Amino acid sequence: MKKKEKSAMYMQQFASIFQCPVCASAMKIVENKSIVCIQNHTFDIAKQGYVNFLTRPVRSEYDKELFEARKIVIDSGLYEPLHSKISEIIGEEKAPKVLDTGCGEGSHLSHILRISKGAVGVGIDIAKEGILSAAKYYDDMIWCVGDLASSPFKEESFDVVLNILSPANYSEFNRLLKDDGLLIKVVPKSGYLKEIRNLFYKNTYSNEQTVERFKENFQQVETYELSYKVPLDEYLFQPLLQMTPLTWNKLNAGEEVRLPEISIDLEVLIGRKNV
Ligand SMILES: C[S@@+](CC[C@H](N)C(=O)[O-])C[C@H]1O[C@@H](n2cnc3c(N)ncnc32)[C@H](O)[C@@H]1O
Ligand SMILES: [Zn+2]
Repeated sequence: MKKKEKSAMYMQQFASIFQCPVCASAMKIVENKSIVCIQNHTFDIAKQGYVNFLTRPVRSEYDKELFEARKIVIDSGLYEPLHSKISEIIGEEKAPKVLDTGCGEGSHLSHILRISKGAVGVGIDIAKEGILSAAKYYDDMIWCVGDLASSPFKEESFDVVLNILSPANYSEFNRLLKDDGLLIKVVPKSGYLKEIRNLFYKNTYSNEQTVERFKENFQQVETYELSYKVPLDEYLFQPLLQMTPLTWNKLNAGEEVRLPEISIDLEVLIGRKNV
């Protein structure tokens, strides 16, 4: 069976989560080919198995190389403690629906759901190159190109919303979560990838404002800090430098970087809706 048809059949099982990003009416999967609303706004399923719900072209600073680099780094196991922690938080609840907002190339969601067996995974990102890669490598999940500001999902469709190292949209998280749902937001702390940051700047980073905004919008129920260092294989030096759109990758030509180890320093914020 072709990937497009396989994805369409999978989406069909969960068609009730979709809502037209143009007119907000219900949608259905038509002829294993498109997702169509009552007013006939039509979004085709791409041959790679994802759906593009953007209603206008968006330029992203995140390109193919960046997402390839992120995939190599995430697949290396560097974030394994984060994936285990999130899957522990998601818990054993029966087939929870998990939406990863700003999922990039989908590796975090895929690794988390490999542990949280039975969960249903949906990823959305505004960058098409990220979703293309996600759909290419990870089956049995729903991958959508879309803007969180006009997302293609119905209210109260998800048990868990993930927001990993990505911009938040709290009013949308509030709308999309079920009343007893959980928001899990991962934010960097000052030591996150500091060995790379130190190559380029000497300033320190604080997540204070990000954490404050989380608390203003959601009831914070728990916080976990994940801090550890990992010795690095040489094959990861380059992808680690390429995985961000910041100036990190602007090394002088011929300059060689050696990173014997790398620090992961993250905060996992868990919130509930104010109902
Ligand atoms: C730093 S990347 C993190 C990607 C992924 N969560 C990871 O950790 O590898 C931030 C992501 O947020 C996405 N993003 C930014 N604004 C968005 C929006 N309005 N709607 C959906 N995704 C958005 C970007 O395209 C990018 O992939
Ligand atoms: Zn519509």
